[in-house]
Order: sequence, then structure tokens, then C-alpha cells
Amino acid sequence: MADARKDKMTVGSPADGGTRSVSVIVPTYQEVGSLPALIERLDGLRQVGWDLELIIVDDDSRDGTLELIEGLSHDWIQLKVRTEDRGLSTAVMAGLDDASHELLIVMDADLSHPPESIPAFVQSLDAGADFVIGSRYVPGGSTEDGWGVLRWINSKVATVMARPFTKVKDPMSGFLGLHRSTWRGASDLDPVGYKIGLELIVKCRCGNVMEVPIHFSTRRAGESKLTLKVQRDYLVHILRLARWKYPERSSFIPFAIVGASGIGIYAGLLAVLGGLFGNLLGMDLVIVISILLTMCWNFTLDRKLAFWWAKEGQAGLQLLGFIAICAIPVLVNFWVTRTFAVEDQMATPLAGVIGAAIGSALGILFNWGASRFFVFNR
Ligand code: GDD
Ligand code: MN
Repeated sequence: MADARKDKMTVGSPADGGTRSVSVIVPTYQEVGSLPALIERLDGLRQVGWDLELIIVDDDSRDGTLELIEGLSHDWIQLKVRTEDRGLSTAVMAGLDDASHELLIVMDADLSHPPESIPAFVQSLDAGADFVIGSRYVPGGSTEDGWGVLRWINSKVATVMARPFTKVKDPMSGFLGLHRSTWRGASDLDPVGYKIGLELIVKCRCGNVMEVPIHFSTRRAGESKLTLKVQRDYLVHILRLARWKYPERSSFIPFAIVGASGIGIYAGLLAVLGGLFGNLLGMDLVIVISILLTMCWNFTLDRKLAFWWAKEGQAGLQLLGFIAICAIPVLVNFWVTRTFAVEDQMATPLAGVIGAAIGSALGILFNWGASRFFVFNR
């Protein structure tokens, strides 16, 4: 381990010359190949005066991790093996709960995150940061070569999606530092998947996030757990964060998009139903039926996408309320469609688009606000 020895020499001692107490939380799944080197390098910090405990939260890897840690029997290392409620984010939360020191560090097991950066994390926390991130994308930070183009693009896209929530350069990082009080102040934690750092920055309402440059190494042992499922989970996570942090916009934007889709549906229904049953039923009835079907379309989508919190409520009652509230714009729409369509059946769908557009423009804010408060009880 020539590398580790070289790193050890560059490790800083606690600034005050005394000891500093740090809990290091490491989530693991099948990382037995990396743990000896990780432990050796963390021990290097202990050698120069850091009072450090290591909490490994393992999701029942059965790869020899348990035997390894029991065999070492170091009193500064704690292994917690979970058999239920698995997953990276919940593992990190379990470890943070068990930590006994004031300063908390979270890092990967595979040595992508250099333990020798921990003193820099502590320095930032001491300097007033609520939250510290080990960052590849600030000056001095870097990523070891060998990242494929795909992984790189992936990481960039994910980073851009996190922009509405935080301005930090590397919000995808899993190398984190925080005060215990920050952790205690977290509210509504609801993470899915991998990005517990992003979740904590948002839900702990961290104002002062600092980034410590790190060199992100490619893992030498074991395999990455970054799968397609992790990426889908990330989309769900971003959606939940948006609904939490920007509830109005997250409701109104889907409402407007569903409304626009409804205009297309309405025109299509007018064309199809008008063509099939126009002569039989008369245009008025075709318009009424088209309007009702379109409202069902809007209702079904809005209930899921714009008024997500009311998904469990009574759909029948909600639908009646929804129709009642849309009544005025709908009447406008009916009247416009009818006036423009007159005798010419071919012009009806176009008239429908105009009518629905005018109705929607008139009613969109009212419909949204009233649906939100009266029908879906926000
Ligand atoms: N307990 C537990 N349960 N640990 C897990 C699980 C799980 O389900 N899945 C992964 N881990 C652990 C791994 O054992 C490793 O220590 C750490 O979480 C990160 O997993 P990797 O598989 O090495 O992730 P990565 O290399 O794709 O992602 C890294 O880069 C990202 C930035 O691009 C990690 O550092 C991420 O935290 C980081 O966000
Ligand atoms: Mn990794």
C-alpha cells in the first residue's frame, strides 16, 4: 500500500492540536474488497490525532464483510447489518442516527472518496458551513480518467436537473459532511435511491453549503451499483423534491399542460363524434358530449399530476366538483364552438380549438385555484 503511506504523510492533524471527534458513515453493499484499504487510510487519520469512529451500514452483503470486521475487532469500528428496508439512502440515514459525534461524514466504501480530505471537511464545518460536499467540479477537484462518455453525460444531465434545488457544482456527490444539529433539523425526509446529499441539502434547508475539491478515483475492487433503476429512482426523487420545495408551480405547470392536451382531445372528439353522429344527434349534443369526455380526460390526469396529494380521495365527488368549477369557461367554450361551427361540420374541430382556447385562457387560473382549494382541499 505505497499509495496509502504517501497519503498518510499529507494528512493534516486537528487544527487546535487537540482531538476532534468525527463519525464516518459508510454504506456498503458487497464491498469487502475495498474495506481493508479504507480502514487503513481512516486509521491514518487516527494516528495523527483525530478521534474517529467508523460506522459501516451493510445491507446483508454476505461477502465476508461481517467476518472481516469481527475479525479485526477494532473498538472504533461499528458494523450494522440490515436485512430489511435496504437501499443506499436509508442506509446513510440509519448510520447518521447511530453516530455519536458532533461532526458527521458520509462517504463511499470504494475509495472513490479520499479519506484524507476529511480534515478539509472539518475545516469548512468549523468555518461556518452547514453542509460540505466533496466536489469534482470546483477548482482543484478532478475525476480519474476512465469514465465513459455515457457515465459522464449521465452525471451532467443529473446535475442540471438538480439546479432548481441547489447551486452547488457537484450535487451528485455522496461525500458529505454536516453538523449533527443540521441532521437533527431535517424535516420530511423522503429519499428514494442514491442522492441522499441532495435530499439533505434541500430538507435541512442548508443555506451555507461549501464544496471541498476532491480527486474522485475509479474503484479498484467490486462493482458499481449504479443501475437503470437508480436512474429512474432519481427522476422520482427530483419530482418529489420539486413538489416539496415548489408546491404551487409543481401543481400549476402540469395543470396547464394537461389543459393544453385537453384542447387537442376536444378537437379530436368533435371531429370523430361529429362525423359519426352529427346528423343523428345534432351538433349541440355532440359538443356537450365532447366537452364532458374532455373534462373526464383532464380530471383523470390532473388528479394524478397536478393534485397528487388528493389521489386517495373520493374520485366521484371530486369529479362533480371539478365539473362544477369549470362550468363558466365550459359554457364560454360551448358558445364559441357553436357560434363558429354554425352549419359547417368540417369547421367544428377548429371552432372547438378556438372555443377551448378562449375558455381555458379565461378560466385557467380560476379553475386551478378553485380546484386546488375546494375540490382537492389543499
Ligand atoms: N447499504 C447499502 N445499500 N449501500 C449501498 C447500496 C445499498 O443498497 N447501494 C450502494 N451502496 C454503497 C456502495 O457499497 C458504495 O459504498 C456506495 O454506496 C456508492 O455506491 P457505488 O456503486 O460505488 O456508486 P457509484 O460509484 O455509482 O456512485 C458514486 O458516485 C456518485 C457521483 O457520481 C457515489 O459516490 C455516489 O454517492 C455519488 O453520488
Ligand atoms: Mn463508486
